[in-house]
Amino acid sequence: MSSPEFYANARAYDIAFGDRDFDDECNFLEWCWRTYALTPERRFLELACGPGRHAITLAKRGWRASGLDLSPEMLEYAGDVASAAGAHVRWLAADMRDFSLDAPASLIACLMESLSHLVTNDDVVAHLKTVSRNLLPGGLYVLEMAHPSTIWRDGLPNLWTRRDGDMEVDILFGHQDDPYDWVTQQWQVTSRLTIRQAGQPERVVAHQHPHRWYMAQELNALADLSGAFSAAWYWGDMLLPPPAFESDAERMILILRK
Ligand SMILES: C[S@@+](CC[C@H](N)C(=O)[O-])C[C@H]1O[C@@H](n2cnc3c(N)ncnc32)[C@H](O)[C@@H]1O
Repeated sequence: MSSPEFYANARAYDIAFGDRDFDDECNFLEWCWRTYALTPERRFLELACGPGRHAITLAKRGWRASGLDLSPEMLEYAGDVASAAGAHVRWLAADMRDFSLDAPASLIACLMESLSHLVTNDDVVAHLKTVSRNLLPGGLYVLEMAHPSTIWRDGLPNLWTRRDGDMEVDILFGHQDDPYDWVTQQWQVTSRLTIRQAGQPERVVAHQHPHRWYMAQELNALADLSGAFSAAWYWGDMLLPPPAFESDAERMILILRK
């Protein structure tokens, strides 16, 4: 279901996908909480956290923060990043379709399209029920998804290169020939990391894994089916002030309140 071998390369993933302003994105998350949450508690959970950059940033701002992921390699890497940053974060190895926190959160987030790893309606409904069970009443669930206008491939492979310190990574995420199933709405997404590190032979990690991207009305219907949330808002990016969710927006941000 997920892409374990791909995500086992935690540092390479972090370099490839780390060109984001985590402070700005956390400003947006805190704005969501101030604007929509009905609880004063500052308890954050980052789902499918990968390197856990948002959990680490909010822990440094005084939140009680946790990060959850399926990948032990990601959690180990995230733990190292947190220690180097002097941040205290609780790390949880679990499946985001079924997990239990020691204490419920007031803000849960699932970012960078990670919901696309859940590819069936049943999985998403189970996931939303689980998230709600782990939220305080009045708490929020924030989802960052691809803008639906980018769900279908254009003529180009999605390819870029990033470098940090002694490591350079070429990343391919999505190829124009990737198969799409019109009934299940699943893409078999080609992903490839080409990793060059000083003093080591080049490594290539390539896979095809199912992803499903969602439209707003599907998410609304699945949230309704879960019976787990009472209100929903959409925005077009994790920026302040938040852009409207319109044709020229970059992302689809859904905020659900329990
Ligand atoms: C695209 S990465 C996102 C990482 C991070 N949220 C970010 O913003 O960079 C997706 C992550 O989801 C994790 N993942 C995939 N399926 C999962 C599941 N069912 N439960 C928990 N984590 C999952 C992967 O191990 C990977 O770390």
